Amino acid sequence: PIPLWLDCDPGHDDAFAILIAAHHPSLNLLGISTIHGNASLEKTTNNAGSVLEAIGRPDIPVYPGSQKPFSRPALHAPDIHGESGLDGTDLLPKPSRSPVKDKNPILAMRDALLAQPKGTPWVVATGTLTNVALLFATFPEVVEHVQGLSIMGGAIGGGFTDAPMSRLPGEKSRVGNVTPWAEFNFYCDPESSESIFSSALLASKTTIITLDLTHQVLASQAVQTRILHGSSDPSKPPTIIRRILHALLTFFAATYKNVFGLATGPPLHDPLAVAVVLSSLNPAFVQKHPGQALHFDDKGGERFAVSIVTDGRHGKDVSSTGQLGRSVAAPVEGPGVAIPRGVDLPEFWDLILRCVQLADDC
Ligand code: BDR
Ligand code: CA
Repeated sequence: PIPLWLDCDPGHDDAFAILIAAHHPSLNLLGISTIHGNASLEKTTNNAGSVLEAIGRPDIPVYPGSQKPFSRPALHAPDIHGESGLDGTDLLPKPSRSPVKDKNPILAMRDALLAQPKGTPWVVATGTLTNVALLFATFPEVVEHVQGLSIMGGAIGGGFTDAPMSRLPGEKSRVGNVTPWAEFNFYCDPESSESIFSSALLASKTTIITLDLTHQVLASQAVQTRILHGSSDPSKPPTIIRRILHALLTFFAATYKNVFGLATGPPLHDPLAVAVVLSSLNPAFVQKHPGQALHFDDKGGERFAVSIVTDGRHGKDVSSTGQLGRSVAAPVEGPGVAIPRGVDLPEFWDLILRCVQLADDC
């Protein structure tokens, strides 16, 4: 199996990223570090432990990471994820194991990754990038050692195409999901995000899963029902784990409807960042986006020089926010950041459903 470390801020969609990372037979989840983001660090750490407990993998260690970006206050998203960061069900169990506090989380990441054969492990980041930036800035040997870094973050939209896909269906002008320009994970800590892309070697190993892609992956009612019942008789009561995952999606769907007016179902952003790690086993998973006359590398992704706008202050007023957190991407020949523009959707939902079944069997 492919070894990976998951840095996350659960978070409804992070919960599904944990599910795949912990249960997919071709992945070996080495550990989880948590980060400020959807809620405070304390809450995201508790949520990670609860999700692991619920899916039958409490053996995976959870390390609480950074509480805030270096140069800005932490931001949270209660309008999307509720006050706890994982609202929507009382069925989530309390973690049976405490988070690991006797080892620095960045050291834990380094040691776990370096213990794997060179060129094999991945880092997957589905939250704000403070921990991951610290890891690679402090221990450059980890940049050399890892196979890849997969990040859910960014929104490219109209930056290099006339058909900005990051808009939610029906929207006319939005590119980001927190400001018109910026996606939440990059916006929360733009300096840490930029630090990833300012290292040429690290950038060449990095894949970003932007809103352009995640907004194609909506957990429709049909998907929600398949998660609740699987292939069982729908007249039979679903198992607790299925009820939990279904309740999380129902809550997430409701907040996306309230905030963005999206009726189809919520975008399941974060598990895509885990799923692309598996695309080395199934290259057809990442698809060229239909109709895009852009540069693609031979793996079916695209290679770009990416930079993040770090000017501006967090706030509701766009005049002070400006384009803070915006991800700017310019196509490059040769090494650069991969930005997949499409995935095999039936394969993705099958992957999720297979992992739900594995958790159910646990
Ligand atoms: C990202 O922001 C968070 O709210 C989600 O968990 C996801 O990681 C989407 O912009
Ligand atoms: Ca997240």
